[in-house]
Amino acid sequence: MRPTAPIRLLVLVLALVAPLPVALAAEPPADAGRTVLVTGSTDGLGRALALALAAQGAHVIVHGRNAARGQAVVDEIAAAGQGSAEFVAADFASLQGVRDFADAIAARHPRLDLLVNNAGIAITGAQPRRTSEDGHELQFAVNYLAGWILVHRLRPALAAAAPSRVVNVASISAHDIDFDDVMLEQPGASARGYGQSKQAQVTMTAALAPAFAADGITMISLHPATLMDTTMVRDIGVPPRTTVAEGRDTVMALIDAPTLVPGAFYVDGKPAPLAAQSEDARAQARLLALSRTLTGVGGD
Ligand SMILES: NC(=O)c1ccc[n+]([C@@H]2O[C@H](COP(=O)([O-])OP(=O)(O)OC[C@H]3O[C@@H](n4cnc5c(N)ncnc54)[C@H](OP(=O)(O)O)[C@@H]3O)[C@@H](O)[C@H]2O)c1
Repeated sequence: MRPTAPIRLLVLVLALVAPLPVALAAEPPADAGRTVLVTGSTDGLGRALALALAAQGAHVIVHGRNAARGQAVVDEIAAAGQGSAEFVAADFASLQGVRDFADAIAARHPRLDLLVNNAGIAITGAQPRRTSEDGHELQFAVNYLAGWILVHRLRPALAAAAPSRVVNVASISAHDIDFDDVMLEQPGASARGYGQSKQAQVTMTAALAPAFAADGITMISLHPATLMDTTMVRDIGVPPRTTVAEGRDTVMALIDAPTLVPGAFYVDGKPAPLAAQSEDARAQARLLALSRTLTGVGGD
C-alpha cells in the first residue's frame, strides 16, 4: 500500500530534521553481530583484539586516552569493511572518569556481548611511585579498579545480552596483595605494584564469577602471552619474547571457545592453578570490601 500524501510529507520532514548520517555512522547496523568493548584498544594487544573482533563482524567500542590512535583503529576497521567501530576516550587514572565512561557506554549500548578489561600500565620498581587523580597507586587504579567499576556498571548490559562474557587480561607476573600497604607507601614496595594489580584482577574474577554466571555472564581472567612486543614491554626496557599476534590468538581462542570455566585463570589457553591468595575466601572478601570502599561501586 502506498503512503498517503500527509504521511509522505511527515516522512520527508522527519528525514530533513533527522541527525546527519555522520552522527549515525558509529551505531551498529540492526543486523550487526556482537557489541564488544575492549579497553585499551588504541595500542598493543587491545588494538589487535579490536581488529580481530571487527573482522568477525562485531561492533567494537575502541577505548583509550589517545584520540588520534583511537580514530586510526576505527578507520582501519572501516577500511577493512568488516564489522564497525566507535572510539570512546576515558582516562582510567580517574575513578570519576571510569564511572562516566561506563555510564556513557551503558546508555548507548543497553546490550553488551563482551567486555575485555585490557587497558593496563606497568611501572618498574626502579621508577618513582605514581598515583591516580584519587590518590591511589596508579597501577592498582588503572589495571584493577577501572575493571571493577566496569564489570559492575556494565552488568545490566552484559546480562541483557546473555550469554555474554567478561575477559580480564591479567598476567602470570602476579604478586600477593599486601592489604596493609595496597597503595605501596612503604619503602621498597613499588616492585610489587604491577603484580598485585594483576593478582587483584584474578582474585576479583574468582570471587565475582559465580554471581555473574547466575546472570548468564561468564567471567574469566587470562595471561595472554609473555613479554609481547608492545609499548608496555618496550617502555620497561625488556626484550620482547612473543608477538602481539600470539597474544591475540590466545585471547581470541578463549573469546570464541564454546565453553569456559567461570572464574578460572587461563594460561596457555587452559585453566591454571590460582595463587593461594586468589582462592582464599577471606582475601577475596577483603579485596571486594576494599574495592567497594575505594570506588563507591559494587555495593548493591
Ligand atoms: N605485553 C605483555 O607481554 C603482557 C603480558 C601479560 C599481560 N599483559 C597485559 O595485557 C594488557 C595490554 O598490554 P599491552 O602490552 O598491549 O600494553 P600497551 O601496548 O602499552 O597498551 C596499553 C593500552 O592501555 C591504554 N591505557 C594505558 N593507560 C591508560 C589510562 N590511564 N587510561 C585509559 N587507558 C589507558 C593505552 O591507551 P592510551 O595510551 O590511548 O591511553 C593502550 O591502549 C595489559 O593489561 C597488560 O598488563 C601484557
